[in-house]
Amino acid sequence: MERRTASVGALHLRAEGLEKACGETRYIEDISLEGCWVGGTVRSPVARGILRGLRLDPSFDWKRTVLVTAADIPGKNVVAMVRDDYPALAQGMISFRTQAVALVAAPDRRTLEEALQSVSPDVEVLPPVLSVEDSLSGGTIIWGDDNVVEEYAIRKGDPEGAFASADLVLEGVFSTGHQEHVCLETQGMAAIPREGGKMEVLGSMQCPYYVHSALVTGLGCRPEDVRVRQTSTGGGFGAKEEYPSVLGLHAALLARKACRPVKMVYDRKEDLLCTTKRHPSIIRHRTGVLRDGRIIAADIDIILDAGACTTLSNVVLSRCALHATGCYSIPNVSIRARAAATNTPPNGAFRGFGAPQANFAMERQMDRIADALSMDPADFRLLNLLREGDSFPCGQVPRDGVSARIVLEKAMEMSEYRKKKAWYRLHNQGASRIRKGIGLSLGVHGGGFTGRGEDAIRGTAAVKVSPGEILEILVSSTEMGQGASTVLPAIAAETLGIPISSVRHPLPDTQVVPDSGPTVASRTTMIVGKLVEEACLRLAGEMAGLAGKVPGLRDSRLTWSEGAFHSRDGSSTGFFELAGLLASLGHELGASARYEPLPGASWDDAAFRGDAYRAYSWIADVVETEVDLDSLEITPVRAFVAAEAGRAISPLLAGGQIEGGTLQALGYAYLEDLPLEGGSCSAAHLNQYLIPTSMDAPDMFVSLEESPFPGGPYGAKGLGELPLDSGAPALAASVGFATGTFPERIPITGEYLHHLLSRKEGRNGR
Ligand code: MOS
Repeated sequence: MERRTASVGALHLRAEGLEKACGETRYIEDISLEGCWVGGTVRSPVARGILRGLRLDPSFDWKRTVLVTAADIPGKNVVAMVRDDYPALAQGMISFRTQAVALVAAPDRRTLEEALQSVSPDVEVLPPVLSVEDSLSGGTIIWGDDNVVEEYAIRKGDPEGAFASADLVLEGVFSTGHQEHVCLETQGMAAIPREGGKMEVLGSMQCPYYVHSALVTGLGCRPEDVRVRQTSTGGGFGAKEEYPSVLGLHAALLARKACRPVKMVYDRKEDLLCTTKRHPSIIRHRTGVLRDGRIIAADIDIILDAGACTTLSNVVLSRCALHATGCYSIPNVSIRARAAATNTPPNGAFRGFGAPQANFAMERQMDRIADALSMDPADFRLLNLLREGDSFPCGQVPRDGVSARIVLEKAMEMSEYRKKKAWYRLHNQGASRIRKGIGLSLGVHGGGFTGRGEDAIRGTAAVKVSPGEILEILVSSTEMGQGASTVLPAIAAETLGIPISSVRHPLPDTQVVPDSGPTVASRTTMIVGKLVEEACLRLAGEMAGLAGKVPGLRDSRLTWSEGAFHSRDGSSTGFFELAGLLASLGHELGASARYEPLPGASWDDAAFRGDAYRAYSWIADVVETEVDLDSLEITPVRAFVAAEAGRAISPLLAGGQIEGGTLQALGYAYLEDLPLEGGSCSAAHLNQYLIPTSMDAPDMFVSLEESPFPGGPYGAKGLGELPLDSGAPALAASVGFATGTFPERIPITGEYLHHLLSRKEGRNGR
């Protein structure tokens, strides 16, 4: 029998696309719950202080509302993440402006607003620590003994010796700012108290089991007393990795006290002000180079601004440190990485997870050295790229292909990089007000959790046959716009030889789905997709074993291969055909698969050495910009992106991920500016915090260089975060080319560009 489908690599419509396009998708805000109240948050107006109590305006009728403070928390006053340093509600110390101090629920929004205006925290103000420099100076201790939330060191070879024999040593300091995710759907959760003291929480999230664990800790209840359901989620990007644990616990605390459902949905202002952002970074590079352009030594010092609590900063920092030398082979390396606490809202997960910061610094340093050597940035990179057999600073030798050269050459070819560089140089020598720029950058991203992370999760995926020739995929992995509900079904359909339209990926519900781990770290396709494939194969194997029980089957010894059951006489039976026969005999058909540690992989957490990631994906960007010398406006004109992330399960969606991620990376570099004032962001509206719209998007040219990875489903590797790692340094290089300056920090605001241009004019003696 011919295989009925070929789902992997096919053109797919998004599983939930039509419903979204027709406006039929119901997000948490749209879901009405019987007798539901609205919840809001009383927040600290100061960055640091001691909470003395709450001032309640006696003229407001408090009987109309429910008020929750730390004293009402039945479990531990902590939002369970990696460390227990994030209080659900402030108690004693206040460590950041906008910190939640109390919660209020009211029957309607108007009463809630009145209540929130009638209560204020009574705080004894203390001087805050607002910068990482202040934090690391140790003058005021706000976290642990020394304000250092986490520190790592990585060493390879003999950096001191190598610096001594270098012909040239170059230094650079690079910095990046906050970045806000700006999900189309803001943070929103609801909680419903159920009989017997149980609690159900539903809302917009990436990681149902993270929320589950936070509820068990905060409510002090048994795991079986808590149920978490994802509702359709309008964007994640890391924003909904850890923050839904905060909001879900808040909603549950209110619902518990109010004895009724309570919903909390942030408006855009609250979302901008209070939720996690990408960690700002300051990264120093010192690089030793030989006269012929080969890098022989690197000394890298990384500082991330953690904000007031750990959230996931230690994990973000480890990824940042492990990606510090980008795609390059450097024999002698010393890396020191620290995350410092400040009295600012905690920073957290954001697509890329530390790698974009590390890579911005590395790629800019590459440009700086190329300049100093009077080499083209592309030629200088080609000379120093990782090759087969080369190792990263942690000692890992990528085993399944090094595609740095392939993607770089592809991006250069697509963009006609060398030709355009010459043209634009000529153009810029003329008098035109509009200067043209071109710049390139590379990136590499390790897919899945770092080190032994996947071994610790031991994710499980299950599949089950439902009536009506439906296969259901039961995983805690969520669709948030990235395509999980299309890609996971494509893998199952391919494996079982069934049409993709017969496969469903329902919204995860912790009462129904096993824990396949969080929907983060570019792991869903590569890790969970592989588990889905394995569960499907196991299911088919079990069904083949049951065939003997089906009366009337000509042969009771079926084997499963190539998407069908085969008998010895050469005839074959399709998946749903046999499933139907077995179901009519009362068999419930389902199977699961659990992650097994990779044989031969080693990771030493103490020494920070070994196989840091299961597989690496590669990317190169060439970005063309125009810079208006009068307005200092930067316009990205074209972006050429070549990526290698193994086999693309769904090439259209993979290309979309790269386009969207590239635009997010470009916005990070030239537009998205989130200055803090007094410890919280001052741009609490989208007319101040600008992100690129589709009208601002450059023309994009994406090429997928597929190099199948044997450890991933049908050869797929991680893809989601990859485009965030590159892009920003290419834009900075492009603006530098257009203006004859060298941007060292992002965002490249008009003010910063003005500063760079006046410094250049100063140097030219004008
Ligand atoms: Mo993430 S930044 O959701 O791994």
